[in-house]
Parts: sequence; C-alpha cells; structure tokens
Amino acid sequence: MIRSFLFVPGDSERKLQKADGVGADAIIVDLEDSVTAENRPRARELAREYIDGRDDVWLRINPVDSEEALDDLQAVMPSAPSGIVLPKARSADDAARLATRLDELESRYNIAAGATRILPICTERPRALFSLESYVGATPRLAGLTWGAEDLSAALGATTNRDAEGNWLSPYELARSLCLLAAAAAEVPAIDTVYTDFRDADGLATFAGRAARDGFTGMLAIHPAQVATINDAFSPSENEVRRAERIVALFRDNPGAGALAFDGEMVDRPHLVRARRIIALAKSIRTRQQG
Ligand code: COA
Ligand code: MG
Repeated sequence: MIRSFLFVPGDSERKLQKADGVGADAIIVDLEDSVTAENRPRARELAREYIDGRDDVWLRINPVDSEEALDDLQAVMPSAPSGIVLPKARSADDAARLATRLDELESRYNIAAGATRILPICTERPRALFSLESYVGATPRLAGLTWGAEDLSAALGATTNRDAEGNWLSPYELARSLCLLAAAAAEVPAIDTVYTDFRDADGLATFAGRAARDGFTGMLAIHPAQVATINDAFSPSENEVRRAERIVALFRDNPGAGALAFDGEMVDRPHLVRARRIIALAKSIRTRQQG
C-alpha cells in the first residue's frame, strides 16, 4: 500500500536527486503541469535516466488526448516505470486507451505484460465527474484513483476552491467524495490530493488525518517536508493494530457469533472487516520497511 507519492518536476535534476532520501513510498516524475513545453524534451531524458533501475517510481504523462502523451511514453517506457499517473482523464476510457498503448510498449521493451500500473486523476475535468462508475472493472492495471481540485476550479472559472478556514468548497468536496466512492466501487486504493501550502505543517497533518479517517489510503505530496507527516497519517498506530488484533481474536474464539460485545461496544461484521484491513495494512508497511 502506497501512503505517500512525492511529485518531482521532471526537468529538475536537483530535485530528482533529492527525492531519493526523502522516504516517500513512491515518487512521481512529472512531465505535465510542472514542466513547460520548452523543457519537456529534456525532462523526458532526465525522467528516463532517473527511473532506470529504480523501484517505486511513477511517471506523470500529459493527458492521453494531447499530442505530448505518446512522446512522453515513447521516451520513458524503456526505463520501465512502476506506473503512469494519468492527468485530466475524461473517464475510464482514457485509462483503457493508455492500457492499450502500454500493451504495445511493454512488448516492445521486454517489460512483463501488464506490469505498468495506471493511477488516473479522475476529477480534473468537469465531465469526468459524471462517469466515475466507469472505473469499475475498467483495466487490471488500475492501481487506484486520485483527484485534483486545481484544474477543476480553473475549468469552473472559480476564483478559489477553499473557504477562509481552508476547507474545500462544495464542488471540490463533492469531487473528493466521488473519487473516494469510485475507488471503493472499483476496489482500488483512494489517494487524496495535494496540500499545496507546503510550509503549513499543522494544516497538512489535519488534512492527511482527515483523509485517513475517511478511507483514503495515501496522499500526493509536492515537497519533501510533507512526506513524513503523510506516512504517519496513513500508518495505523500501535493501539489501532492491537485493538484490531483483539477484535479478530474475539471473532475467532466465538465462531458462531455474528455480533459480540467488545470493550462495552457492539462489534459485528463491518468491524471485523475493518480490523482485518488495519492488520493487513500494518503488515504491508512492515514489509515495505524491511525491503
Ligand atoms: N522533490 C524533491 N526535492 C524537492 C522538492 C520535490 N518535490 N521540492 C523541493 N525540493 C528540494 C529543493 O530543491 C530544496 O533543496 P535544495 O535547497 O538542496 O535545492 C529543498 O527541497 C527545499 O525546497 P524549498 O526551498 O523549500 O522549496 P522550493 O522553493 O525549492 O520549491 C516547489 C517549492 C513547490 C516549487 C517544489 O516543492 C516543487 O517543485 N514541488 C513539486 C511541484 C510539482 O511537481 N507539481 C506538480 C504536481 S501538483
Ligand atoms: Mg494539474
């Protein structure tokens, strides 16, 4: 399970170098909005060099309906990125189009068929919000769903996307919820969007804590200083793990029971499912730290 994805502009050799030591579960080398058209050819070269031989590095290409997307893929696929972050997806059809391209490129560059995952940013265009159900069963490459508020607010002509307290205004709160729901329906992880105010550590902790509470399993980061806070927010605490283990043990010891009393509260099947999820998550984090 990937808790933190750190964006690094593909044209910045310095930031690419820095990204290694930061502790992000995954890195996204960006060829889209953080890179100008002029710098894109150089960024493609840097991305290919950087990704080659590294694990857990993803590539954000340009939208599949742009001319740049194919050049992005052709330049960087030889280095076998872990996955492709797909911006401005209109629906799962765009993910399917990308999957078809990846089929060809994987075979051309001797990459195992289907190895390259896809993470769509599924709310950047207004029309995308009306077809999120399309992600259910769309492609086995689907690694999760994430969302974005910046391009959506630009598309809406809005002057801001948050209120004075920093909370999402309703169109973006809706987009966030729909992303979460679509990911659950498609049975893939939901990844919360960036917190752009990278000097505000308390704000980030609140934002990431809410995301974990709501069911997101990870979040996008834009600055090295955000990574530890994000990893922490999406890691179950020791208390949570112990409690989950006790719930699983309680059901194991009472095989015929659907509902049981636990610390003075009723627990039934959804509690057992949640407890198992927490234990699996803790285990996957331990495995990642050992490997
Ligand atoms: N990845 C790796 N290293 C990064 C980084 C990132 N995303 N962001 C900053 N750094 C490095 C800087 O190079 C700097 O190191 P240095 O002093 O040795 O050069 C150090 O971390 C501290 O950076 P800081 O000075 O606080 O920030 P900045 O002004 O250099 O950069 C941003 C601020 C927002 C431009 C930068 O964080 C960034 O480029 N973020 C990613 C943007 C992006 O990819 N956007 C697309 C997705 S929304
Ligand atoms: Mg963008």
